Amino acid sequence: MASGRICLWLLFMITAQVVGEDTQSMILSLLVDSKFQCANTTCIPFINVFTSNILNCQVACLTQSRCKAATFHRSTSSCEIFDNMLNQNGSILADVDATSMNVISGTRFPSDQMTSTTTSSSTTTTTTVCSLSSQSSWSQNATTIFGSQAGTSGSNLTLLSGPIGMYYDGPNNMLFVADNGNQRILQFSINNSPSVATVIAEGNGIDCNMSQLYRPNGIDFDSSDRLYVADFGCGQVLRFPSNSNSTTSGTLLGVVAQAVLISINQLTNDTYVASTNDNAVYKFVGGSGLPVVAAGGNGAGSALNQLSGPTGVCYDYLYTNSLYVSDNGNYRIMKYPSGSTSSTYGTVVAGGNGAGSGANQLNNPRNIVVDSSGTLYIGDAGNNRIQRWLQNASSGTTLVGGTQGAAPNQLHFPDTAIFDKYNNLLVSDRNNNRMQMFNLTTC
Ligand SMILES: *[C@@H]1O[C@H](CO)[C@@H](O)[C@H](O)[C@H]1NC(C)=O
Ligand SMILES: *[C@@H]1O[C@H](CO)[C@@H](O)[C@H](O)[C@H]1NC(C)=O
Ligand SMILES: *[C@@H]1O[C@H](CO)[C@@H](O)[C@H](O)[C@H]1NC(C)=O
Ligand SMILES: *[C@@H]1O[C@H](CO)[C@@H](O)[C@H](O)[C@H]1NC(C)=O
Ligand SMILES: *[C@@H]1O[C@H](CO)[C@@H](O)[C@H](O)[C@H]1NC(C)=O
Ligand SMILES: *[C@@H]1O[C@H](CO)[C@@H](O)[C@H](O)[C@H]1NC(C)=O
Ligand SMILES: *[C@@H]1O[C@H](CO)[C@@H](O)[C@H](O)[C@H]1NC(C)=O
Ligand SMILES: *[C@@H]1O[C@H](CO)[C@@H](O)[C@H](O)[C@H]1NC(C)=O
Ligand SMILES: *[C@@H]1O[C@H](CO)[C@@H](O)[C@H](O)[C@H]1NC(C)=O
Repeated sequence: MASGRICLWLLFMITAQVVGEDTQSMILSLLVDSKFQCANTTCIPFINVFTSNILNCQVACLTQSRCKAATFHRSTSSCEIFDNMLNQNGSILADVDATSMNVISGTRFPSDQMTSTTTSSSTTTTTTVCSLSSQSSWSQNATTIFGSQAGTSGSNLTLLSGPIGMYYDGPNNMLFVADNGNQRILQFSINNSPSVATVIAEGNGIDCNMSQLYRPNGIDFDSSDRLYVADFGCGQVLRFPSNSNSTTSGTLLGVVAQAVLISINQLTNDTYVASTNDNAVYKFVGGSGLPVVAAGGNGAGSALNQLSGPTGVCYDYLYTNSLYVSDNGNYRIMKYPSGSTSSTYGTVVAGGNGAGSGANQLNNPRNIVVDSSGTLYIGDAGNNRIQRWLQNASSGTTLVGGTQGAAPNQLHFPDTAIFDKYNNLLVSDRNNNRMQMFNLTTC
């Protein structure tokens, strides 16, 4: 059996809130360019998940108390988690596509810092990150990382017009955004913001053919880096090849009237799209074929098998295996089990108490993010705020915003809120034509 080539040694202490106040921490050793493979079946992975990067693979290991080792395969984004690795050093094979991690110590203690120390032959860097908890908080003033700080719209490569859907690429610290009013998808770096964007789809005027867009709303990428765009104005979902540019033509995934946000299950390629027009969330099974109803589709209404003008969708394939939907017209967030259809009754997990700005209410909820504790982060656009709802909570708390305006502590129809790798909150502040970053201040 080959022995691993250890060209980098990394001590990774990683901590997350697991249940209540119980916090798990572990130190991982990193084995670059190697994978675990045993001669017999005593060490097959007990879970295989897809994660966008190695950090998320480490987090996936952390959230599994049985995890003793993990291998992340770059080309497939597959994260294999092992619990029975008796002889870790003797089960390593060279593989340039893989990075493996051994748990070399694990403890539980109440702390919330996550520290990683990378040591190679010549350099040592330390970064401190943290895992989100119910106490996490963010600066109330944002930094504008793209677009006009004052809220002015424009169409050149440093300005935006009504940004909506976002996608964050952690390894490159890049942000992608659907620049709705400019009919284009932009990519820009947030390392040295403000930067000049690159158009990765369209930007050639309005039309519904495969090289133009008309009011793009949602975007996502699959594990092969292909871009998916929910085109609201044309009522269709397009897919673009990886590394697309403004002249690249897409292909038609399918027709979805008033397609808003989009979410891909990276394990199955199932692609979920919210259709405001049809009061339904559709699923393209495996990312192809005719769309089937995954939620709603029973006319506009507020029964638990109905939706009213849904906007946001999030399929959580890592933690809760559930579909979350922003049921805009009912001012609520619905949750459905995996495999849901038009006959499935959902559960109200946030809002549902009429339109309003009370702690138990939402008004025009848009994007949803789910973390490993099942906590929801909601772009509560009509209330100009980002809300956090802990699992099973009957009310939410405002993380940032709350009043309409263009000051650094204000928002105007924040459509989408996501986290960067440092857990800063990135917000597409739609009617202010800008992208805001609220720095994490407390884990
Ligand atoms: C399987 O491999 C492990 C080490 O990788 C070894 O300890 C164990 O004895 C092996 N079992 C069998 C049945 O060969
Ligand atoms: C595996 O290798 C590492 C690094 O060489 C070493 O520190 C560790 O003690 C080894 N573990 C075993 C069980 O041999
Ligand atoms: C937030 O921004 C406002 C307006 O620019 C400024 O007056 C205030 O001092 C800032 N607050 C903090 C805590 O930086
Ligand atoms: C947020 O953090 C960035 C980078 O560390 C810094 O440049 C910026 O001034 C911070 N913004 C606020 C409002 O504190
Ligand atoms: C875009 O327009 C604004 C306002 O006119 C200007 O300040 C900025 O430099 C322009 N950006 C580019 C890339 O031309
Ligand atoms: C798309 O439509 C535009 C405007 O009508 C036209 O200029 C362009 O050639 C069309 N592209 C394709 C691929 O048909
Ligand atoms: C844009 O992408 C197309 C493929 O879709 C490629 O042929 C072309 O060279 C690219 N243009 C630039 C400037 O990279
Ligand atoms: C998902 O799509 C990718 C291509 O983008 C493919 O490599 C992978 O096998 C697909 N996964 C499944 C489960 O079909
Ligand atoms: C939320 O409720 C579900 C179902 O009753 C339960 O299984 C879960 O443990 C609860 N979660 C929390 C954090 O209370």
